[in-house]
Amino acid sequence: MSLARIHNLSISLDGFATGEPQSADAPFGHAGERLHEWMFGTRFWDAAAGTAGIDNAFAERHGPGIGAEIMGANKFGPPGWQDDPAWTGWWGDDPPFHTPVFVLTHRPRGPLEMAGGTTFHFLDATPAEALETARAAAGGRDVRIGGGPTVVRDFLAAGLVDHMHLVQVPIVLGRGVRLWDGLEALEDAYAVEAVSSPSGVTHLTFTRRAARQGARGA
Ligand SMILES: NC(=O)c1ccc[n+]([C@@H]2O[C@H](COP(=O)([O-])OP(=O)(O)OC[C@H]3O[C@@H](n4cnc5c(N)ncnc54)[C@H](OP(=O)(O)O)[C@@H]3O)[C@@H](O)[C@H]2O)c1
Repeated sequence: MSLARIHNLSISLDGFATGEPQSADAPFGHAGERLHEWMFGTRFWDAAAGTAGIDNAFAERHGPGIGAEIMGANKFGPPGWQDDPAWTGWWGDDPPFHTPVFVLTHRPRGPLEMAGGTTFHFLDATPAEALETARAAAGGRDVRIGGGPTVVRDFLAAGLVDHMHLVQVPIVLGRGVRLWDGLEALEDAYAVEAVSSPSGVTHLTFTRRAARQGARGA
């Protein structure tokens, strides 16, 4: 069974996964790099100088078993990237995905084949349709829902997420794009675990509860 997984999604104490305004100079707006400082100190991010503790153990789960990613238009580029035919994403010629990546956008364009096995496909589709397409491309492996918060929220609201790893960072952003709006009682559908890291962040995992079987013997 190919799962839909979220990893390393970093949110502030007040639930924002990005600040504002998003721009080419400040992809996370006024949040700057504060949501991801926990990750910069890990071996996952910095193979030479990073540490191999709790933060690294969680961060490294990002890649294994993943055969495709789905991301939103605002993760792929700053506002207006759709008007720039030369825009190929933030990540240079060899993006770190190494799988097909499906970018949800209301202004799709043709596929972009990059070095290292990453091909960006641009899709105007519902979350369920996008997941079906990504699963078909993932070769039996799992699909990562890569963000940003708008797309993650939509996939959660549609009941499509099997596993979610959040990193709660002890900062209060006050504004930006919030993850939780409209997801009241989301925790009812998941087993939720929390682990505090010495770095100050809290790792939260949401693992979808198995669907209830019929009564025993029925
Ligand atoms: N904190 C983290 O760990 C983390 C992780 C990833 C990203 N981010 C940050 O999050 C921000 C982006 O998040 P966001 O919430 O603003 O936006 P987003 O989720 O990346 O993208 C939302 C946009 O995608 C398009 N879209 C979404 N669903 C669609 C559908 N079903 N069909 C067609 N198009 C669809 C729409 O754009 P159009 O209408 O323009 O096409 C929509 O406005 C960036 O700052 C990024 O750096 C943070």
